[in-house]
Amino acid sequence: MNEIKIFSPATVANVACGFDVLGFCLDSVGDDMVIRKVDKKGIRISRIEGFELPYETEKNVAGVSALAMYNAIDVDFGFEIEIYKRIKPGSGIGSSAASAVGSVFGMNELLGRPFNKTQLTEFAIKGEALASKCEHADNLAPALFGGFTLVKSVVPLKILEIPCPNDLYATIIHPQIEIKTSEARAVLPKEVPLADAITQWSNLGSLVHGLHTSDYDLIKDSLKDVIIEPHRSKLIPFYNEVKNEVLKAGALGASISGSGPSIFSLSKGLETAKTVKEAMKTVYAKSGIDFDIHVSKINTKGIKIID
Ligand code: HSE
Repeated sequence: MNEIKIFSPATVANVACGFDVLGFCLDSVGDDMVIRKVDKKGIRISRIEGFELPYETEKNVAGVSALAMYNAIDVDFGFEIEIYKRIKPGSGIGSSAASAVGSVFGMNELLGRPFNKTQLTEFAIKGEALASKCEHADNLAPALFGGFTLVKSVVPLKILEIPCPNDLYATIIHPQIEIKTSEARAVLPKEVPLADAITQWSNLGSLVHGLHTSDYDLIKDSLKDVIIEPHRSKLIPFYNEVKNEVLKAGALGASISGSGPSIFSLSKGLETAKTVKEAMKTVYAKSGIDFDIHVSKINTKGIKIID
């Protein structure tokens, strides 16, 4: 096999109370990528469609993660990467992570899978860091593993796969404005009050327990963020209005997707997830800001080969 086409999914990081550690994978939105073995040594980005991104390997997220893997192997050939980008950069649903994991996943397949998914995440972290100026894996891990993942630690990298209740659906609104992850990180305080930390880790623990036991009431009671949301929500137009309407429509909870501006909600059942979509639409239709909305079952498989 000399060429492979893959679907690299969008992801939701943080999931309210799990800043930088928790994430889940979507199945209705993602990028396509083609990875090809070529005679010329090295990594080359040969095609980019969808959004304007740099072709220089060292300046492209997919290129940087590919180089990290390439430098760890000894081969007398190279790779070309085509990116068909559908996830808008700066949208908050793991655009850079999809690029970062796509190149290394595809290369690994063409090489006969010498690396496991945790090792692939290690390479992809280098690409993600180019975009967000910090090494975190809460979008990368769910894109590669699928479902919900918890990044137990980055050094050494340890990723836990968390079970996903069958009837859990996500609705995500993506206002067409850009918030750079690096900027959304810059507005966060360096220290947090102990009382807030206690609330946050109690919610994270109970959310993970709720996911393990398919306890939708507990999931609902735990989807809260007292540390990050108060700072970042100010960057997102109509954030509080969307959240209020979504909760009225029956969602289990709603919060900022990654570093925003996307807002995600989780619902029990597809019907409720669709009702939530209408609620989001009603708020944003009056805003004058373009938006799109995705309803998605949680993607438990993650990145996949499509050709
Ligand atoms: N955990 C990261 C953040 C995800 O919220 O900054 C965005 O890449």
